[in-house]
Amino acid sequence: MIYIAPSILAADYANLGADVRKVPSADLLHVDIMDGHFVPNLSFGPDVTKAVDGVTDQFLDIHMMIEEPERRFETYIKAGGDRLVFHIEATDDHVAAARTLHDLGAQAGFAIKPGTPIEPYLDDLEHFEQVMIMSVEPGFGGQKFMPEVLSKVAAARERIEEAGLSTLIGIDGGISQATIELAAEAGVNAFVAGSAVFGAEDPAEAVDTLRDLARAAAER
Ligand code: DX5
Ligand code: ZN
Repeated sequence: MIYIAPSILAADYANLGADVRKVPSADLLHVDIMDGHFVPNLSFGPDVTKAVDGVTDQFLDIHMMIEEPERRFETYIKAGGDRLVFHIEATDDHVAAARTLHDLGAQAGFAIKPGTPIEPYLDDLEHFEQVMIMSVEPGFGGQKFMPEVLSKVAAARERIEEAGLSTLIGIDGGISQATIELAAEAGVNAFVAGSAVFGAEDPAEAVDTLRDLARAAAER
C-alpha cells in the first residue's frame, strides 16, 4: 500500500480547518512539530495538533523535530497523535523510546536527517512501524529534494524485506510530481508532501496524482 501524507506545515494557518478538509483522500496527515532548538524554526504545538485532530478522523503522524522528545510523548498522544516519529539524533535510546510509545498505545517511528547514516539503526527497524528518511534538512517546507538519501531508502528496504518486517519507509522533504517516482522506485511507501499538496490549485487532486505516480513507479 502507498500512503500519501500531506504536511499541514504548508497549509494556511488562518484557515487550517478548511485546509485539512480539502484533503479527504489523504491516507494520513503529517504534523510537523519544531521547537526552535533541534531545528532553527518554530511551528506549532499540542494545542494546534488537538485542533486538527478535532476536525478530522484521519490518522496523525507527529514528526517531532524537538530535543528530548520522550518528555512530550504523552502530550502529543493526548493531543491526537497516532504515530510519533522522533528524531534518532535527539534520543540516546531509540529502542526504549519506541517501547514507551507502544506502552502508551501509539505507533513509533524514527526520522533520520540527511547527514546521519542509517546502518547503525538497521538492526532496530523491527521496533518501529515507520522509518522516516529526511530528504531535506528538517526545519522548513519548500526545499529541494536530496536524491542522495535514496541509498538509505534502498538499505532500509533491503533489510525490511530480508527480515520480513512491515515497517513503512517514509520520505519527507521536496516530494512532488517531479520526485515521487524516484523515491517510490527506491522503495519508499509513505510519502510526505507539503507544498506539492497545499500549494496546488486542487489539493485533493494533487494527493491522487501523487499516489498514482508512486503506485505506477513502485510496480515497475
Ligand atoms: C521539513 C518538514 C516537512 C515539510 C515538507 O522539516 O519535516 O514535513 O513540511 O515540506 P515540502 O513537502 O514542501 O518539502
Ligand atoms: Zn515533516
